[in-house]
Amino acid sequence: MSLIKIVRTRMELRSVVSEWRAAGTAVALTPTMGALHEGHLSLVRLARSLADRSVVSLFVNPTQFGPNEDFEAYPRNELQDAELLEGAGCDLLYAPAAEEIYPPGFSTSIEVSGVSKPMEGAKRPTHFAGVATIVSKLLIQCQADFATFGEKDYQQLQLIRRLVRDLDIPTTVVGGPIVRDEDGLALSSRNAYLTENERSVAPALYRTLRSAAEALGQGATVSAVESRSIHELRTAGFDVVDYFDVRNPEDLQPLGPGRITGPARIIAAAQIGRTRLLDNVAV
Ligand code: PAF
Repeated sequence: MSLIKIVRTRMELRSVVSEWRAAGTAVALTPTMGALHEGHLSLVRLARSLADRSVVSLFVNPTQFGPNEDFEAYPRNELQDAELLEGAGCDLLYAPAAEEIYPPGFSTSIEVSGVSKPMEGAKRPTHFAGVATIVSKLLIQCQADFATFGEKDYQQLQLIRRLVRDLDIPTTVVGGPIVRDEDGLALSSRNAYLTENERSVAPALYRTLRSAAEALGQGATVSAVESRSIHELRTAGFDVVDYFDVRNPEDLQPLGPGRITGPARIIAAAQIGRTRLLDNVAV
């Protein structure tokens, strides 16, 4: 049985957080959709290293799922999540119902242009408006000093940084490093969907990203690295490679086709069976 305090309304959330802040205590929020793993827990520990109090939100946000995506099937286990959070040092779990977030008549959607358009945005046209809207709401509801997000969803992280700057939201966004299994696979709640055979193919994504980063560092051209990497992933057993892109790490503009001359981020999404995996590395 978890002992962590759980609140379900924004009024309760605000009242706990404002008491903390009135006492001069800094607060850090970690937004999640539950199905927690070590990646999320590392973000909670990061939050605790930044602030005296950690709030985690748990809300499987319907508006960021496309019509044929896994909203219904998305893994949900609040009790287990609450127990894990307690162990990671979280002080308060905010787990609102859908009506608390999207009451009848809700009609606002936040669109971040630029960073939201390529890669995930091209593949999932409504996804980032759903993310931008829920993240704005959570940041406004919680009024935390800091908010932590994983670098695993690198495009999402850059979009949130842009959004917070553009809307003057007084919360400092902090990215946490990707947590990986021993064989390099980035932890993700969706890894649970992989069959045994698909799981054995999955680490090829990180291997390919790493060798692409090495090749770029040694002067290979972006176009050669991108096309060779897509071929490598297909050969390793991925069914579809949605993108394997070398991008500017800040605004996510494409780099290349020639050699890179400064920092870059290689960002990829590929599908095995019915599961899409996302990963990225810095160059
Ligand atoms: O990264 C996630 O889990 C979600 O996109 C987020 C940031 C919690 C918004 O629903």
